[in-house]
Amino acid sequence: MKLVVTGGAGFIGSCFVRMALHEKWADNVVNVDKLTYAGNLENVQPVAEHPGYSFVQADICDGVGMGELLEREAPDAVVHFAAESHVDRSIHSPAAAIHTNFNGTFSLLEAARRSGIVRFVHVSTDEVYGSIPVPYEADEKFPLQTSSPYSASKAGSDLLALSYFTTYELNVSVTRASNNYGPYQFPEKLIPLMISNALEDRPLPVYGDGQQVRDWLFVEDHCRAVHAVLKKGEPGEIYNVGGNCSLPNLEVVRRILQATGKPETLITRVTDRPGHDRRYALTNEKLTRTTGWEPRMDFDTGLRVTIDWYRHNRSWIDRVKSGEYRRFYELNYADRK
Ligand code: NAD
Ligand code: DAU
Repeated sequence: MKLVVTGGAGFIGSCFVRMALHEKWADNVVNVDKLTYAGNLENVQPVAEHPGYSFVQADICDGVGMGELLEREAPDAVVHFAAESHVDRSIHSPAAAIHTNFNGTFSLLEAARRSGIVRFVHVSTDEVYGSIPVPYEADEKFPLQTSSPYSASKAGSDLLALSYFTTYELNVSVTRASNNYGPYQFPEKLIPLMISNALEDRPLPVYGDGQQVRDWLFVEDHCRAVHAVLKKGEPGEIYNVGGNCSLPNLEVVRRILQATGKPETLITRVTDRPGHDRRYALTNEKLTRTTGWEPRMDFDTGLRVTIDWYRHNRSWIDRVKSGEYRRFYELNYADRK
C-alpha cells in the first residue's frame, strides 16, 4: 500500500509515519508537510533512510500543487493530519487556523476527487462537540458546538469532508480523537509544556481553576485507531477515538510534578483561556465494535514513557524552543498574569 500522509512532520502525523513503516501498514509513505513552526523533520529521522519513505515540502492550501502531487504519486489513500492544531494560537491569530484547516482540507479533497483517489481519512478532533455536561459522553451523532476558531475550523472541515462522500462518493471517513500526549509533542500543549517547565524548574501555568476535564489518549493508540479506520472504516462515517482516561488538568499537572520529583509550589494559576471548554468526554463504542480497536496504554505508564523521552531529548526541546516558540509563549502568557 502507498500512502500520502499530510502533516507527517508534526506530533501525531510523524508517529503515524514511523508506525506505518515500522509496522508495515504501508510499503511507501509520502510525507507532505509545509514545515510550519510545528513541523520538524527530526520527528521522522528514525525512518528517513527507509526505502519506502519520501518527503515533499508543500502547502496543502496550494490546490494546483496538491492536484499535481496526487496525480504523480497515485497513492492508494490519503491520511490527512496537517493542520494548525493549537487552540491558544487560533484565539490569538485565527486566520491561519481557518485557512489551513478549512481551505487546506478543501484543496486536498478536491485534488483527491479529481485524481480518483481510492481512500481518504480526515483526522479530526473531539473539540467539535464542545463542552459536554456531566454525565454525558459524545457519540458520533452528538451536535457540533464549537467554542474556538480552531474547533470551528475543524468542524467545518469535517462537514466538508463528509459532503465529498455525499456529493461525489469520495471514500472518506472522519476520525475525532481526544487529547493526545506522548514523545515529540510540541511544548505548547499542556503535557509537554508542563513536563519541560518542570524539568527546568519554571512555573507551571494552569488556566483558571484547573478543573477542566480532558480525555487523554497515548499518541500510538491514536495512530493505531487511524490505521484501523483506514482499513476497516466505512465511507461517509465518523469514528470517535478516546483514551478512556478523563482527568482534570490540575490532576494531570500534579502527576507530572510527582513523576518528575518537583514541588507543587511550581504550579501558578493564570487567567483562563477565553471560551474555555469545561469538559470533553466521548465514547469509543462504535470504533471498538466495528474495528476491534481499543486503547492499550494506561495513563501513568504513558506519562512515564513521555517524561523519560523529554528527559533524554533535552536538545530536541532546546531546538524547538526557538525564537518563534519564545515569541508565542511570551504573547500567550503575558496577558494571563
Ligand atoms: P502539530 O501541530 O504537531 O502538527 C501539524 C503538522 O501540520 C506540522 O508538521 C505542520 O508543519 C503541518 N502543517 C501545518 N499547516 C500546513 C499546511 N498548510 N500544509 C502542509 N502542512 C502543514 O499537530 P498534531 O497535534 O500532530 O495534530 C495533527 C492532527 O490531529 C490535526 O489535524 C489535529 O487537528 C488533529 N488532532 C490533534 C489532537 C492533539 O491532541 N494534538 C487531538 C485530536 C486531533
Ligand atoms: O481534544 C483534542 C484537542 O486537544 C486537539 O484537537 C487539539 O489539537 C489539541 O491542541 C488539544 O486541545 P486542548 O486545547 O484541549 O489542548 P491544550 O494542551 O492546549 O490544553 C489542554 C488543557 O490544558 C486545556 O483545558 C487548557 C489547559 N492548559 C493548557 C496550556 C497550554 C493550561 O491550563 N495551561 C496551559 O499552559
